[in-house]
Amino acid sequence: MQSGILQPLPKHGCYLSFDKLPEVTLKEALHCLQQSEIETQHVFGIGPALIPTIAETQIDLATFPAMSGSGVNVPSTQNDVWIWLRGDSPGELAIEAQFLASELSECFDLVHQTQAFLHDSGRDLTGYEDGTENPTGDDAMAAAIVAGQGQGLDGGSYVAVQQWVHDLARFSMHSQPEKDHMIGRRLSDNEELDDAPDSAHVKRTAQESFAPEAFMVRRSMAWAEGPDAGLMFVAFGHSHQAFEQQMVRMAGLEDGIVDALFNFTRPITGGYYWCPPLQGDGVDWSICLGDD
Ligand code: HEM
Repeated sequence: MQSGILQPLPKHGCYLSFDKLPEVTLKEALHCLQQSEIETQHVFGIGPALIPTIAETQIDLATFPAMSGSGVNVPSTQNDVWIWLRGDSPGELAIEAQFLASELSECFDLVHQTQAFLHDSGRDLTGYEDGTENPTGDDAMAAAIVAGQGQGLDGGSYVAVQQWVHDLARFSMHSQPEKDHMIGRRLSDNEELDDAPDSAHVKRTAQESFAPEAFMVRRSMAWAEGPDAGLMFVAFGHSHQAFEQQMVRMAGLEDGIVDALFNFTRPITGGYYWCPPLQGDGVDWSICLGDD
């Protein structure tokens, strides 16, 4: 598998999204990616338009589903390639981003680039610890990585990516107990609050409360650009089912209760990608490229 998926968050991140140029064929685009030198500490995925067909590949990837509920908009802004550069210095990542954009430019347009960083050992910019209930060890592997489906699929992962923009000034106007009830955990000691309302984020997303249980591995990072800031939400699964079950409930589409997060933050992008497995030193493209 791509090792960055299960490793701890890096100090710095840079997210790149690309779209295939219209005149480039699917095969040409896949060859272009195959020849690019994406180093193994980074993570990358391809969107549904770059997957030949489910019947040919068994990769079960759809376009990210837009959703709307009461006062809630979850947009779909699907792209064709997603790259999460991971490293210790923003300079190093900026250089690498330029290098990759130029290397891929024959086949792809760079459409988004966002710098991200590890905030206070993995807290969201609201101050709350993010990732506490992530599965670990073998459970993380089982939740995030495909297994038992054959070569070219095993070791792969499905990632959901959403850029959320926070209104931190609005959030700061709430009292501390109100903030804790929106998240469902106490800021001071990260304890889960039994008396939090049903709209509390961790009540909406409690992984074991879904049928089937909706475990996934979240690897989100804080981002800030000019006056805007928020969370780049990134979740890996052995399918997109867990993310979709949770997003549907957060948007209030299951029981009419909207996640309290929407009081102060909103997603502005949404994409689904397939992160192919590795084989030896490189990516295992066998399933997308056949015998080419
Ligand atoms: C701005 C966006 C978001 C923020 C700031 C945020 C923040 C948090 C925080 C602080 C926690 C509690 C600690 C933890 O267990 O990690 C949490 C838990 C969780 N979040 Fe989010 N989250 C966001 C978006 C999402 C989205 C879009 C999903 C899925 C669709 C999601 C799924 C989860 C899950 C599964 C948990 C653990 C629930 C449990 O089993 O206890 N989050 N989130």
